[in-house]
Amino acid sequence: MLNSRVRDLINTQINKEFYSAYLYLDFANYFYDEGLDGFAHWYDIQAQEERDHAMLMRTYLQNNGERVVFEAVDKPDKSYSSPEDPLHEGLKHEQYVTSLINTIYKAAQDVNDFPTMKSIKE
Ligand SMILES: [Fe+2]
Repeated sequence: MLNSRVRDLINTQINKEFYSAYLYLDFANYFYDEGLDGFAHWYDIQAQEERDHAMLMRTYLQNNGERVVFEAVDKPDKSYSSPEDPLHEGLKHEQYVTSLINTIYKAAQDVNDFPTMKSIKE
């Protein structure tokens, strides 16, 4: 069993990872619409990576005897007026997600949860 705050943060992070996948698929949709299939394909791959992150965290909770609770995934609400816009939004989103991962790391550090500290940074 994990510390309840660490567990809840990881459970929330699963949702954030699925949202990341959804956002990157939204970027891909924009690029496909613009005829920029290479960029679209690259974001399709990024979306798969985010789903992989979600699934790894799901497995991590389950392997620690924790129940996973899925919440609704938010609708991507960005609008793009140039091909550079998704790239800027992607950078901002990655910085945001990194801050969330750092919060989980700190919560695990606060309770000497070394396995979570190691896992969350991988
Ligand atoms: Fe991720």
